Amino acid sequence: MKILVTGGAGFVGSYVCEEHIRRDHEVVSLDLSDGAKVEHLMNNARFRHIQGSVTEELLIDREIRSADLIYHLAAIADPRVYVEDPLRTIEMDLLAGLRVVDLASRYEKKLIFTSTSEVYGRNPDLPWTEESDRVLGSTSINRWCYATSKAAVEHYIFAQHQRNGLEFVVYRLFNIYGPRLDSLGAGRVIAVFLDRFLSGKPVQVHGDGSQTRTFCYVEDAAKGIVQGSLSPTSANTVMNIGTDIETSVLELAETMKSVGGFSSAIETIPHVEVFGDSYEDIPRRVPDVTRIRELVGWQSKTSLEDGLRETIKYFSNAPEKS
Ligand SMILES: NC(=O)c1ccc[n+]([C@@H]2O[C@H](COP(=O)([O-])OP(=O)(O)OC[C@H]3O[C@@H](n4cnc5c(N)ncnc54)[C@H](O)[C@@H]3O)[C@@H](O)[C@H]2O)c1
Repeated sequence: MKILVTGGAGFVGSYVCEEHIRRDHEVVSLDLSDGAKVEHLMNNARFRHIQGSVTEELLIDREIRSADLIYHLAAIADPRVYVEDPLRTIEMDLLAGLRVVDLASRYEKKLIFTSTSEVYGRNPDLPWTEESDRVLGSTSINRWCYATSKAAVEHYIFAQHQRNGLEFVVYRLFNIYGPRLDSLGAGRVIAVFLDRFLSGKPVQVHGDGSQTRTFCYVEDAAKGIVQGSLSPTSANTVMNIGTDIETSVLELAETMKSVGGFSSAIETIPHVEVFGDSYEDIPRRVPDVTRIRELVGWQSKTSLEDGLRETIKYFSNAPEKS
C-alpha cells in the first residue's frame, strides 16, 4: 500500500509516516520543510520525502494519482499566522485544501483530512460531540479564518462523498503535543512555555490561566489516526481525536515546571497585550471521544506527566531538531 502524507514532515505528520512504515507500507511525505522531523526515516527504503508545496499543481496531481491512501495534513496551524496573515491561512487551509479534495475525488482515492477542535468555536455546551453546533465569532475577527477554512473543507469532503462517492475520514484534533512539536518559543502553548522554562525566563500565561484544554500525546494520536484510517468501521465518518481530561493552562505551566524541575516564575498577561483586538480566546474545549472509542477501539493512554516528561527530554537534548 502506498501512502501520501501532505505535511508529512510536520509534527503530527512525522508520526503518521512512522506508523505506516511500522506497518510495512510505502510512504511519501510531501512538505515545504526540508524534512528535519523525518530525518530518522530517510534511510528507510519504504520512505521518500519530497520537499515541495501542495500548491504545485503537477506535483500534487502526480502524487495523489500514484498513491492508494491520501492524508492531507499540510496546513498553516500556527495561531499567530492566522491572526497576522489570514490571507496565507485561507490560501493554504481552504483553497489548497479544496484542490486536494478535488484530486482525491477525481482519482478515487480515500482521503484522510485533519480538521480541528476550532470548528466548534466557542460553543458553551461541553463536551463537544461530532454533531455539536459551531458557534463562531464575527468574520472581522481574524482568528476564525482557520476554523472556517477547515470547516469549509469538511463540507466539501462530505459533498464530494454524497455526489461522487469520495471515501474519507475526517479527524478533529484536540491539542496534540509531544516531541517534534513546533520550534521552541513558536506556535503552540507547550513549545512557548518550554522555551521560557529552558532559558530560565518567566513563563507568561495568557489571561488568568483558567482557560482549559485537553492535551493528547502525539504517539497515541498518530496510532488512533492510522487505525481509524485503515478500519472499515470508521469509513466516511468524522471523529474527534484527543482526550477528555481537562487541564487549565495555569495547571499546565505548573505541571511542566514540576516535571521538568524548572525554576522560572509563572506570570499572567492579558490576551489583548499578546494578540491585540483580533483574538478571542475560548474558555473551555473538551471533546466527546465516544465515537472514536466505539468505532476504532482507540483511546489516548499516556498521562500528561509522562507525555510532558518525554517532550521536555526531547527539547532539552536536541532543541536544534525542533
Ligand atoms: N497539533 C495539533 O494539536 C492540531 C490541532 C488541530 C488540528 N491540527 C491539524 O493537524 C495537521 C497537522 O498539524 P501539526 O500540528 O503537525 O502542524 P505542523 O505545522 O507541524 O504541520 C503542518 C505541516 O504542513 C506543512 N505545509 C504548510 N504549507 C505547506 C504547503 N503549501 N505544501 C506542503 N506542506 C506545507 C508545514 O511545513 C508543516 O510541516 C494540520 O492540518 C493541523 O491543522 C493539529
